[in-house]
Amino acid sequence: MAEKENSTQGEDNIMFSPYKMGNFNLSHRIVLAPMTRCRALEGIPQPSMGEYYSQRATQGGFLISEGTSISPTAAGYPHVPGIYKEEHVEAWRNIVDAVHDKGSIFFCQLWHVGRASHSVYQPEGAAPISSTSKPLSASSKVLLPDGSIGDYHSEPRKLSTSEIPEIVEHYRQSAINAIQAGVEIYFRPISLIKDMYLVYYVSWLFLGC
Ligand SMILES: Cc1cc2nc3c(=O)[nH]c(=O)nc-3n(C[C@H](O)[C@H](O)[C@H](O)COP(=O)(O)O)c2cc1C
Repeated sequence: MAEKENSTQGEDNIMFSPYKMGNFNLSHRIVLAPMTRCRALEGIPQPSMGEYYSQRATQGGFLISEGTSISPTAAGYPHVPGIYKEEHVEAWRNIVDAVHDKGSIFFCQLWHVGRASHSVYQPEGAAPISSTSKPLSASSKVLLPDGSIGDYHSEPRKLSTSEIPEIVEHYRQSAINAIQAGVEIYFRPISLIKDMYLVYYVSWLFLGC
């Protein structure tokens, strides 16, 4: 029994012990994972999001934002925030300031969902873009704006090679926007890597940041 108590105490000590993560000095190891919360209206982060993130911020803590759209074609859920317009940047700045005031660092998860979207989230109801015109498997479902669950788009639009630099540019500009909003930087290439094989470009972006 005494041994078990000691080992539990040991685990607690690790969770609450400092950690050096690259240039960042964290005072504990409890991190907020990125979680889509669907609380941005028309892509604009709302004050309730500032409250949500600052409630979870602590001195020396580390938060990762929910997936944040890099362009009008990037979303695949309702009410996800963007980081590609000036009004997005302004709204994020208030949230980031609130998190920094509590002493945490804040990464922004830059996001494009690829074909994991629906025409309802696309400009002018177009097909979602991808590296392929193959749809996601029928067992994958999409959350629609009215809260119901539907099927993903039956045929994503396969991008031509010449269109890919534009997506890379959206990531680059969004990274700049996020830095202007005050965040430390992070992004989620996974959806696009799976869909578009942008490994080379994404690696370059990561190092470039
Ligand atoms: C409601 C919800 C929203 C999520 N949104 C995101 C997201 O925006 N980006 C992401 O990379 N992961 C997202 N995730 C995945 C989580 O960050 C986490 O990796 C996942 O829940 C596994 O951790 P767990 O085993 O502790 O739950 C989400 C998870 C949940 C439950």
